[in-house]
Amino acid sequence: MDPNTPVRSVLAASQTAGRDLEPRPVSASQSMLAELALPGDANNWGFLLGGKVMHLVDVCGALAAMKHARCPVVTASADSINFMHPVQMNQLITLKSSVNRVFHTSLEVGVKVLVEDVMTGAVKHTTSAYLTFVAIDEHGRPVPVAPVTPETEEELRRFEEAGSRREYRLALRRKSRQKAQESAQGENDS
Ligand SMILES: CC(C)(COP(=O)(O)OP(=O)(O)OC[C@H]1O[C@@H](n2cnc3c(N)ncnc32)[C@H](O)[C@@H]1OP(=O)(O)O)[C@@H](O)C(=O)NCCC(=O)NCCS
Repeated sequence: MDPNTPVRSVLAASQTAGRDLEPRPVSASQSMLAELALPGDANNWGFLLGGKVMHLVDVCGALAAMKHARCPVVTASADSINFMHPVQMNQLITLKSSVNRVFHTSLEVGVKVLVEDVMTGAVKHTTSAYLTFVAIDEHGRPVPVAPVTPETEEELRRFEEAGSRREYRLALRRKSRQKAQESAQGENDS
């Protein structure tokens, strides 16, 4: 490909080529990302910044979402993230992501973060997160995504649970929108 080709043209070409909306198994898009915790990303106490972990969670989640959807995606939301263990320098952070469920244009991806002390080999599960990505076309408009087929009992459980998480987060979205409208109204009135 010509490196000067604008990204939008590339996207447009991939969309007009017609997207495959045949169901795909969860295993086809499972992704992994690994990174060593380095001092440039540490806080003043020598632990990895939570924001760095959140960034990696977003990237690893987007990888699975894009591999499944085979088109660009944006992050619509991330459910609450709890950090169960601090990450120290020179520990290896490994992230694993998989598509739990596809709705229509959106998909829920689960990301698990493991931290390994490379000197001892001890591994800890430090956090898990659920993110919702939305597949978009070259104009940033949501586009349908191929269904995902859960094959194992674990995948089936995640598929079912993703349904109730969606209801909860869409209710939160409605509340946030309402608050944003009220806040904008307040700014305009003042
Ligand atoms: C996410 C975005 C594409 C949704 O666009 P929209 O015009 O509001 O579209 P819709 O209301 O039709 O929603 C599209 C889908 O997203 C889902 N969605 C939107 N906001 C959501 C949220 N906060 N949480 C979960 N799902 C959400 C909807 O349920 C719908 O899913 P479905 O088609 O599977 O039923 C748009 O709000 C956006 O571009 N946001 C900014 C994204 C961004 O910049 N992220 C950070 C950088 S990547």
